[in-house]
Amino acid sequence: MHTDAIASAYDLLERSVMHYNGDPVGTVAAMAAPDEVAAENYHDCFIRDFIPSALVFLADGRTDIVRNFLRTVVTLRGQHERVYGHQMEPAVMPASFRVHHGRADDGSDLIRADFGDHAIGRVAPVDAMMWWVILLGIYCRHTGDRDLAAEAEIQQALHGVLELTLREGFEVFPTLLVPDGSYMIDRRMGVHGHPLEIQALFYGQLISAIDLLSDSADVHPLLDLAHQRANMLRNYLQLFYWLDQDRLNEIHRYRTEELGSGSVNMLNIYPESIPEWIIDWLPARGGFLVGNLGPGRMDFRFFALGNLLAVLFGITSPRESQCLMRLYQDRWDDLIGRMPAKLVFPAVSGKEWMFMTGSDPKNVAWSYHNGGNWPMLLWPFVAAAMKTGRGDLAQLALDIADQCLPSDQWPEYYDGRKGNLIGRRAHLNQVWSAAGYILGHRLAEDERLLDMFHSVDQQEKESAGH
Ligand code: GLC
Repeated sequence: MHTDAIASAYDLLERSVMHYNGDPVGTVAAMAAPDEVAAENYHDCFIRDFIPSALVFLADGRTDIVRNFLRTVVTLRGQHERVYGHQMEPAVMPASFRVHHGRADDGSDLIRADFGDHAIGRVAPVDAMMWWVILLGIYCRHTGDRDLAAEAEIQQALHGVLELTLREGFEVFPTLLVPDGSYMIDRRMGVHGHPLEIQALFYGQLISAIDLLSDSADVHPLLDLAHQRANMLRNYLQLFYWLDQDRLNEIHRYRTEELGSGSVNMLNIYPESIPEWIIDWLPARGGFLVGNLGPGRMDFRFFALGNLLAVLFGITSPRESQCLMRLYQDRWDDLIGRMPAKLVFPAVSGKEWMFMTGSDPKNVAWSYHNGGNWPMLLWPFVAAAMKTGRGDLAQLALDIADQCLPSDQWPEYYDGRKGNLIGRRAHLNQVWSAAGYILGHRLAEDERLLDMFHSVDQQEKESAGH
């Protein structure tokens, strides 16, 4: 039975709660074991890491901490330092924040945000504002409390995020252009340009914001733009990111160097860039969204979180979502292995690793962001499996996690092709590993919790019912 394991996960979650002037506002990333020194910034509450904690709190009716978190993050935007000569956007939200108890002049608590200016490599946390909007949407749907979203400061923040992400740049695609390491993969990993995870979150952010922004004559043009962009983005992802055997055949025989409006191979992908591994690996009945796409560049790697979120937000069609789950079924050892689930498949090594990561020793092949297995992926996997009617796969993944995740003390990640070694530099008592485990079990036990996620299919269902 997993009851003891759930109790131990709750114990960790409880101990991780961070208070600001007496109110619970978030959860720290990891709790250091007595004989362990956790990395400096793991005492912070990371926006992305808090998501599974927040969903567990909401499922348990502990809405105050989520509400406090949503409000706190908004107020922190003001701490964003401007770089001289740069027009920094007040809409940007921090990667993480930390409370210093009793350190303000009047003896109250001080709160400090990190906008990437303290992070390793100074990476920009583009995903933070997207997760914030998505969590706000989930909070409102789940609690029925729309007053929070209606608050002036929250409306202003929503407006700012939409304006910033919909602003015209140098782009010709509906996808969003970002620098390397701008999301959960927050190190150099060749994920600059148009990485799938950012596109999935961008879509989730757009459909959530459309629902949350109060309509008025001023806001109407922005809402219109958001609608159009969301539709274009979804179509583009389905058309150009989706990969299955038929698509692979097409790409294999692509004409190249086509000019003008009639071109089929619009992005000029050279068939020679198809990596060898994918040809035998992709099963006839499987498919997925590729990791990245730009001019002359298709990153064929499988990125789990982007794909699973695409299912949850209704970016993939029901047929495509089924194909994705069949890919998991047929390539179980590669994508789930001994600890659900693989973050990226396959790993890069040798010269490719040198050029792509800048010879990052933490991201050697089959470790950390470069093909490590991350327990926090358990909840999106279970959610996507439940949504597609594949409760059988959800159960199998949960059974695997039950076997060692609690006894290994909630490591941050696992190493190895199959994820059978605790990550070399993984923290133990990593809070999103434990929260993801609780949430995975909760979602499998009570499918109604899936209603938290706003997706287009749901919208279509709702409007059909009216
Ligand atoms: C690492 C991960 C990042 C996470 C942070 C805190 O930097 O790459 O995604 O938010 O740790 O757990």
